[in-house]
Amino acid sequence: MRKSCQVFFRNSKCARFRGHISFWDPHRGAHTADPISSVPDETDSGVTLLVQKTRKSDGPKSMDQTAKKVSVAKASLEYIGSGAALGVGTGTTVNVLIDLLPSIRNRIRSIVSSSGATAERLEKHGFEVSTLNSVGDLDVYIDGADEATKHLHLIKGGGGALTREKVLAGAARKFVCIIDESKLVGMLGKFPLPIEVLPMAQSFVARQIIKLRGQPVWRENFVTDNGNHILDVHNLTISNPLEMETRLNQLPGVISVGIFSHRPADVLLVADDRGVRKMMR
Ligand code: 5RP
Repeated sequence: MRKSCQVFFRNSKCARFRGHISFWDPHRGAHTADPISSVPDETDSGVTLLVQKTRKSDGPKSMDQTAKKVSVAKASLEYIGSGAALGVGTGTTVNVLIDLLPSIRNRIRSIVSSSGATAERLEKHGFEVSTLNSVGDLDVYIDGADEATKHLHLIKGGGGALTREKVLAGAARKFVCIIDESKLVGMLGKFPLPIEVLPMAQSFVARQIIKLRGQPVWRENFVTDNGNHILDVHNLTISNPLEMETRLNQLPGVISVGIFSHRPADVLLVADDRGVRKMMR
C-alpha cells in the first residue's frame, strides 16, 4: 500500500490525489484504488450469445479461478486450425494456454509473442518464436483481458503488454479473448485503465488525463518491453469506449491505450461455474 503520485505529480494538480491510496495487485500486475469486484450485469443479453458447454454442471460446487482459466484456455484451442500462424497474448490466463500448446504443436506453423514473458514461456516449451514482420498477418490471436463488455470491448494492459497486444490483435484475422466471468462488466473502467506513455511525456499526459476527470497513477518501477512507462487511470467514465480510445490516443506522448474497442475481440470465451460461454460480434 502506498500513497500515489507524490513523486510523479510534484508540479501538477497533485493536491487532488493526496491521500488517494492505491494497492499493487500482483495477480493483475496493476495498482488498484480498491479491491475490484466486477459485476456482470448484462451477461445474458450479449450481441450474439451462444452457449458452449465444455463440461457438465457440477451442481452447487463452484470452480476456483485456476480451474476456470484451464477450462477457457482449453476451449480456445479449437480456434487454432491446422497450419496456423498464431499470436499469443500475455498474462496468467494465457500462461495456462501456453502450457496446453504442446498438445497441438503439429497444428502450429508459426508463433508470434506479445511480450518477453510470453516468449520466454513459449521457448521453454520448445517453440521457436517468430517476429510479426517475418510472419505477416496472423490467423488467430488469443489473449486475456482485464475487463470485457457484451460488445466485446476490452480493457487490457494489466500486465503492461498492451501495445504489442494491440498490434497482434490488429494483425489477426480472428481475435479470441479468454476470461472468467468476473471480468465481464456493464461498463469499462472499474479496472484502472493502463496507458503506455513515453517517459519524457508522462507528466504532460497525466495532466491531460486529469482534465478528462481521470486519476492517473504512475506504475512505479515498471518499464514496458518497449522501454516506456505505464499510467493506470482510475475513475474514468468510459461510457463510450470508441470515443475515449480515440481521444486518449490523440494525446502526444501516448504510445497506446488499454481500451480495445476499435479492434475489439471477435470471440469472447467466458468461463463460469457451468462451463464456457461464447459471445461473438
Ligand atoms: C496483459 C493483459 C492481460 O491480458 C490482462 O491483464 C489479463 O491478465 P490475466 O489473465 O492475468 O488476468 O492485458 O497486458
